[in-house]
Amino acid sequence: MSKFKTPIVILNFKTYLESSGSNALNLAKALEVASDESGINMVAGPQSTDIYRIKDETRIPIVAQHIDNISPGGHTGSNLLECLKEAGIDGSLINHSEKRMTLADIDENIRKLRDNDLYSIVCTNNVNTSASIAGFNPNFIAVEPPELIGTGISVSQAEPEVVEGTVRRVKTVNKNIKVLCGAGISTGDDMKAALDLGAEGVLLASGIILSESPEKALLDLVSKI
Ligand code: G3P
Repeated sequence: MSKFKTPIVILNFKTYLESSGSNALNLAKALEVASDESGINMVAGPQSTDIYRIKDETRIPIVAQHIDNISPGGHTGSNLLECLKEAGIDGSLINHSEKRMTLADIDENIRKLRDNDLYSIVCTNNVNTSASIAGFNPNFIAVEPPELIGTGISVSQAEPEVVEGTVRRVKTVNKNIKVLCGAGISTGDDMKAALDLGAEGVLLASGIILSESPEKALLDLVSKI
């Protein structure tokens, strides 16, 4: 449980070259240093190909970026939960806006992760979808307006009503679900604004991955908590 204690920073490595292969390992090490130094939980979300090496060489918690709702057997090119678990994940993102899933698959993935003692972080795009997903009882809901992703315009400062509304509606359904926000988050002010609105952490990518020093950017991100 303590690996995902809030406030929390989850870094989605996506498929940037700056966060892939040997760069993924360096980024995971930067997360580890920043987490140790700040005392704030930080989690890596690398591509599947980089999970094993990060698990092998760091202590940072790891989430997969996506899991396919399949059983072991005749599937090609898919991400199988059982193998990701063996590689070292502690949980998974589900339904990222760059990898949308059906409601039935989201529901089933949350259940499978729970059955395997792994964390579920479901991404949503607005207040209404967040409230609907809350009925599935994931551990986290991460609200991310897609139009702000990768823009450097922070959801917590540009669209505070989305974060506030999501927290209010999700907690009405189940107060144990933790709400994160993401899209355009990169600075300490962005993260502080998110927490002030009731979010319990952030899910972010480009602001850290593409910065000159990810370690410094991570420390700045949590400097105002
Ligand atoms: O999953 C994180 C995300 O989609 C936000 O991306 O680059 O705006 O921090 P970014």
